[in-house]
Amino acid sequence: MASYDVIVIGSGPGGYVAAIRCAQLGLKTACVEGRETLGGTCLNVGCIPSKALLHASHMLHEAEENFAKMGLKGKSPSVDWKQMLSYKDDTIGQNTKGIEFLFKKNKIDWLKGWGSIPEAGKVKVGDDTHEAKNIIVATGSEPAALKGVEVDEKVVVTSTGALELGKVPKKLVVIGAGVIGLELGSVYARLGSEVTVVEFLDHITPGMDAEVQKTLQRTLKKQGLKFIMGAAVQKTEATKTKAKVHYKLRKDDSEEVLDADVVLVSTGRRPYTDGLGLSELGVEMSDKGQVKTDEHWRTNVKGIYAIGDAIDGPMLAHKAEDEGMAAAEVIAGRHGHVNYGVIPSVIYTHPEVAAVGKTEAELKDEGRAYKVGKFPFMGNARAKAMFAGDGFVKLIADKETDRILGCHIIGPGAGDLIHEVCVAMEFGASAEDLALTCHAHPTFSEAVREAALACGDGAIHA
Ligand code: FAD
Ligand code: NAI
Repeated sequence: MASYDVIVIGSGPGGYVAAIRCAQLGLKTACVEGRETLGGTCLNVGCIPSKALLHASHMLHEAEENFAKMGLKGKSPSVDWKQMLSYKDDTIGQNTKGIEFLFKKNKIDWLKGWGSIPEAGKVKVGDDTHEAKNIIVATGSEPAALKGVEVDEKVVVTSTGALELGKVPKKLVVIGAGVIGLELGSVYARLGSEVTVVEFLDHITPGMDAEVQKTLQRTLKKQGLKFIMGAAVQKTEATKTKAKVHYKLRKDDSEEVLDADVVLVSTGRRPYTDGLGLSELGVEMSDKGQVKTDEHWRTNVKGIYAIGDAIDGPMLAHKAEDEGMAAAEVIAGRHGHVNYGVIPSVIYTHPEVAAVGKTEAELKDEGRAYKVGKFPFMGNARAKAMFAGDGFVKLIADKETDRILGCHIIGPGAGDLIHEVCVAMEFGASAEDLALTCHAHPTFSEAVREAALACGDGAIHA
């Protein structure tokens, strides 16, 4: 038995970042992880493997679609799926080992096994019980179950199974047109699968800017993805090699069936707190199964904190990381802060989608007067040279004060471009501040500046 200032349970982006910051602030820290490798969902079965497969499949797409146009002729590459999976696994390994290295560097003990909290101030891992002045619950999330759909991770899979299929399926049916469905659907469409996405709502990616939703859906359709909208999946029937997906169209209640070699269930994730013993301790939980916390990530039980996917808010790695750092600061007696109004979200399709702040729909609901500056990537020289002229930057600013309220981008490098707007928003900048900032030419970033110019007297290249 050892005694610590802080024990973090879970080593995902929330947990490992919290542990590192605690150690940097001079606190004796341990992190409990039940998986064989550190890094949580994100590094093992989430952000990192999905981005590796997106990158590899995008390279194939570029070769097939654009190489010849640029005078790069020759046979297009063929897909060696085993090698692609091994590249993905290498990428995971490099990253999870990286966290192990950082733990050693910062003298954080990795307590291997599944942890529980028998009482406040104690964490049990296997047969050992450790003392902890502070405990941070960072146990993340798991795929939400869908009624009538039994997952076997071979034919009916969650994102975890979809990242290690035995072969590229001929027919993939994706349930849910959210972030996971569209990213992994894109991967398999590029690799040659016939991909059909069945979505309950009449639009994809709920919560995103409506114009971005339409543009993304149109672009993905051009890339071969099929969409069945307004359709509620009722059940799946699977054998060892095939499945049938039964759905009901909401407009007329008619029932239809789709055949699939693989079905990806991507209808959301739910917090994972199984086995921790939180209810026995009297830790308050929400109806959605999230650990309830105050604005300092404290639960109602003294000395127990919670962060990341296990609590309220967007289920994003960087949100978990920010909370991890902030909770560590609070435990060390310093000020910890997360600005929930400026958390970017990115969808790594092609083109990428990125957003921060308010959408027009939200501002309309709030009755707030705003103006929009929009600039198409078709007016951006760099984008055109790279066959990436689809999409636009939409900057939203307060009508009176010109203060930036939000930004919605679909286009090349959107996931990187959004951060200039995040920084501007953190500093309370106006659209004019961005418009007056010199941007290098020729870069995609010029499109952000042009959108800012469009909030004022007008963009130059539109
Ligand atoms: P997690 O990463 O879920 O980590 C929790 C860890 O706790 C796990 O390793 C688990 O084994 C461990 N654990 C749980 N209970 C115990 C216990 N009792 N004892 C010991 N260990 C325990 N987000 C992005 O921002 N960008 C992306 O591109 C992105 N892509 C994604 C792609 C996919 C396919 C998926 C599924 C998710 C993606 N996400 C992405 C979401 C992101 O992975 C999560 O928001 C993030 O991992 C949450 O971090 P966390 O630290 O809260 O929890
Ligand atoms: P999601 O919440 O993004 O999308 C789920 C979709 O499924 C919604 O469009 C919903 O309307 C639909 N749906 C629900 N029930 C349905 C039914 N019965 N039939 C048909 N459609 C149905 O959830 P997803 O894609 O599973 O992702 C989970 C979370 O993981 C995301 O919310 C995100 O936080 C995180 N993530 C983030 C990524 C990123 O940042 N790039 C990438 C992947 C995941």
